[in-house]
Amino acid sequence: MNISNPLSRRHGMLAASLFLLGPWVLLAQESYNEPWRPQFHFTPPKNFMNDPNGLVYYQGEYHLFYQYNPLGTEWGHMSWGHAVSADMLHWKNLAVAIPEVPGQYMIYSGSAIVDWHNGSGLCAGGSAADPSCLIAIYTAAGNGSQKQYLAFSNNRGRTWTNYEGNPIADLKQPDFRDPKVFWHDARKKWVMVAVLADERKAVFFDSVDLKTWVLRGSFEAAAQEKGQWECPDLFELAVDGNPKNKKWVLVVNRNPGAPAGGTGTRYFVGSFDGTHFVDETPAGQELWADYGKDFYATNSFSDLPPKDRRRIWMGWISNWQYANREPTAAWRGAQSLPRELSLAQFPDGIGLVQKPIAETIRLREGKLLELSGVSVLMANQAVRMASLRGATLEMEAELAPEDAKEIGFRLRKGGAEETVLGITATPREVFVDRTRSGEVAFAPEFSGRHKAALRQSSRVKLRVFLDRSSVEVFVNDGEVVLTDRIYPSPGSDGIELYSDAGKGKVLSLTVWKLGSVWH
Ligand code: FRU
Repeated sequence: MNISNPLSRRHGMLAASLFLLGPWVLLAQESYNEPWRPQFHFTPPKNFMNDPNGLVYYQGEYHLFYQYNPLGTEWGHMSWGHAVSADMLHWKNLAVAIPEVPGQYMIYSGSAIVDWHNGSGLCAGGSAADPSCLIAIYTAAGNGSQKQYLAFSNNRGRTWTNYEGNPIADLKQPDFRDPKVFWHDARKKWVMVAVLADERKAVFFDSVDLKTWVLRGSFEAAAQEKGQWECPDLFELAVDGNPKNKKWVLVVNRNPGAPAGGTGTRYFVGSFDGTHFVDETPAGQELWADYGKDFYATNSFSDLPPKDRRRIWMGWISNWQYANREPTAAWRGAQSLPRELSLAQFPDGIGLVQKPIAETIRLREGKLLELSGVSVLMANQAVRMASLRGATLEMEAELAPEDAKEIGFRLRKGGAEETVLGITATPREVFVDRTRSGEVAFAPEFSGRHKAALRQSSRVKLRVFLDRSSVEVFVNDGEVVLTDRIYPSPGSDGIELYSDAGKGKVLSLTVWKLGSVWH
């Protein structure tokens, strides 16, 4: 069945009527300039978006597909929206890639890969030298059932055709979803990890042709876990960059039960032989990727160019507690910055380390401030003299609390509004407090203070990305991350440092203005 978009007629009519109304209407709709419109995070031009899907690199383009309601600003009619980029930061919006089949099924989350050797036999139009095409594997959800479907594209993801032998995996369960497919080199097979969401169980299949899948193993949560597992991922990473010491990371997105409340990204570190995952996380430890309230439904890129050894993922920066109520008007939902992943050995075990991809440096438009080795008081004087303010900034700081109980920044300050990013010595923690960040009343679960434990607090490094409605904080080179949406008033763009009685040191602080990827 060809599914290259029953909505395109509707889109065509929309574009035509906009043209009749004048090009300025189109401009207004796609201006990406509303007060809360992120300037360097991906958001859809209009309507509702949740999970990133099918992240894949192919023929010079990074593809971002995403859970999308083409017809409204709340969840529904789930389809795969689509954008492409040459650098994972500047995105070009394309038409809906895979639309729901009304009355039959919606297109839930999934993944995409390059079928390099046409192992599926579904690629056509390539050459003998390069017979490849793109394959998407997603959950068809409808009429109380969830099963895995395959679609293929022979034109770089612009249009998609459903495989006529669908479903390719069906456990006859209502909660079997979110397939992530990857090539398992040791066994020379494709592996699919999916979840039985309500049982909090990951299931592993393998295949030689992407069309026939055999269930090989499963991994379950400890009995006391509640809620659902969604959007699993599974990949191997070197520990401390040592190629002789590699571990597998099994990611499950948990709904609810995250440290900040609601939905969040949990992971296990262990081994995977192609069919079974063995968890090696020390007993009693729960590993979480982000301690803010808004990082969920992660998906990592497939098929990065061979010379690029990175593992990069993105997450949806929202939370199912209030995703349908966030106070933006024409569009809802944003994706995180792409983050490079690695593993590090800490005294208490192996943990995930996340850094914004190196490409983000290209967003820097100018250094607004640079200082080192000063008191909080002097740092604030410098901030005032530089008239430092802004809603799209990057900051790199190293703070030493010394004998201060608390030290940090007040961001997006204006009137009674502020988003506080602080470090406390006892307990040793870093936190983001968005209680007074601006518009918080749209959902009772939104307002709050989100914290994470620090392994040490004598010198704390903070790398902060402030966008018009989000704050992403990478602490101590990415061993702790906090991501929160915020909705400040447009004029609330002041910055200030604080500590009790001015104690503590600003060992270094550099601030850059970041440019917009949309203008
Ligand atoms: C996660 C999720 C997935 C599902 C999709 C539906 O946010 O619930 O499990 O596939 O969203 O939009």
